[in-house]
Order: sequence, then structure tokens, then C-alpha cells
Amino acid sequence: MFKELKQALEVLDPYDIEGYLTQLCRLTEGQKIVFSSSLGLEDQLITHVISRCELPVEVFTLDTGRLFAETEALIATTEAHYQRRILRFAPQPDAVKSYEEAHGINGFYHSVENRKLCCHIRKVEPLNRALNGAAIWITGLRSGQSSFRQGVPLLEEDSEHGLIKFNPLLAWTSQQVRAYIDAKGIPYNPLHDKGFPSIGCEPCTRAIKPGENERAGRWWWERQNALHQECGLHLHEERIDKK
Ligand code: ADX
Ligand code: SF4
Repeated sequence: MFKELKQALEVLDPYDIEGYLTQLCRLTEGQKIVFSSSLGLEDQLITHVISRCELPVEVFTLDTGRLFAETEALIATTEAHYQRRILRFAPQPDAVKSYEEAHGINGFYHSVENRKLCCHIRKVEPLNRALNGAAIWITGLRSGQSSFRQGVPLLEEDSEHGLIKFNPLLAWTSQQVRAYIDAKGIPYNPLHDKGFPSIGCEPCTRAIKPGENERAGRWWWERQNALHQECGLHLHEERIDKK
């Protein structure tokens, strides 16, 4: 199926997001397709297309328990706007409890290992549950987000999760995403207008300063390189080896 999808999708106009997603659904009919939304601008755009084109795609979010109030509110706004559900996958309460007992409620500031462990408990493990049974996983990754993401392909075989990962907004710039959001009146997080181009968990995201790269506000206290500014959701073995 991978080869067939690659051939059919790679020839399409990379900015025809409706075309990408409807073709994907047509070619994989009967199989489970899921979309992971962080409620960021890219993800809101994809949720819009899935909803307006009535595509058979399950939209889910990883509710880490440390999201901004604005992000929580946007989940409800988006559900109401599109009259649909966004499934929430939360961390295992016992794992969170053990982590907090061992490292403290904000233990992620103390070491990279502690930070990665928190991301594993609050994001990576719930992601594995969310992807269970899916044949296709859609994301809102863009090449322009970081040098690490420049190496991400449109379609990839994800052996770790046993599925095909599809990144349909790969070629879009942040300006193009923003223009589409504005043109269609898509609901978005008000923090984007306050210096937050990339929004994750509240304690691990700050606004960026003029001239900084768009992911500079993520885990900003750690050494700044593109691989470090990843939480593990998109770090597959093959990619880490290449860096
Ligand atoms: S992250 O890995 O650094 O957190 P980023 O915020 O840039 O990722 O988002 C990139 C893509 O990862 C999103 O388009 C989305 O598909 C997925 N993603 C990130 N965070 C979440 C989340 N909390 N819930 C669901 N998907 C997410
Ligand atoms: Fe934990 Fe921060 Fe990772 Fe969220 S981004 S899961 S709070 S370390």
C-alpha cells in the first residue's frame, strides 16, 4: 500500500490540502485513519478540511494535563464549530504520580532525562494508545519548522507504530498556513497572536523574541538544537541515527 500511496500522492499539488486528504481517504477506504492534533495552526487547518470535506478520519489530541488554558478552551470551541468530537488521550495516572513523587511536579526543568521521561509519560505512551489499530497517521508537521523537520518526507513507513505516517502540510510556510486560517475563519489559539508560533505544554513553552526560530520557545532552557527541540512524538529510530 505504501508504494501505491506514494505514487498517487507525490504527484499532487502540495498546496491542495483538500486533494491530498480526499485522495488519501479514497485510496485507503475501509482502513483506520487518525489525525493527531495539538490544536496548533497547522492542525486547525487540517481539522477544518477533515470536517468540511466530511472525511472518515478520527481526530485526537494528547491531553498531557499541562496544556495552556487557551488550548483547553480551543478544544471545546473547535468541537462546537465543526460539530464533531476530538478524542482525548491522557497519561496513565499512576505513571504521573510516580514521576511527580520521584522528580517533583516540574521535574522536567532539572535534567534532559527528566524532561524526556515526562514527555514519554504524558505524550509518547498516550500516542501509542491513540495510534493502536490505525493504518494511517496524519500529522501537521512542516519542513520549515526546524532543520530536523526539513528531513521529514511526505509519506513514511513508521515501523515503530506499524503504520504509514502522512505529513500533508510539509511544503507549506507558516505565512501560507496563517493566510488559509484567516481566509476560512478557522478558530485558533489566541496565544499565536502573542508571540507563540509553536504551542505545547504550558511550563515548557514560552513566547519567542523577534529573530528567533519558531521552535525556540519549546524547552528553551535546554541546549538549542533542532533534535533537542523534539519531545519524541516524531523521533523514530531511523531519524535519530541520521542526526
Ligand atoms: S511537538 O512534538 O513539538 O510537540 P508540534 O507542537 O510541533 O510537536 O506539532 C507537530 C505535530 O505533532 C502536530 O501537527 C501534531 O500532529 C502532533 N502533536 C504535537 N503535540 C500534540 C498533541 N498534544 N496532541 C496530538 N498531536 C500532537
Ligand atoms: Fe512534560 Fe513539558 Fe514534555 Fe509536557 S512538554 S510532557 S510538561 S516535559
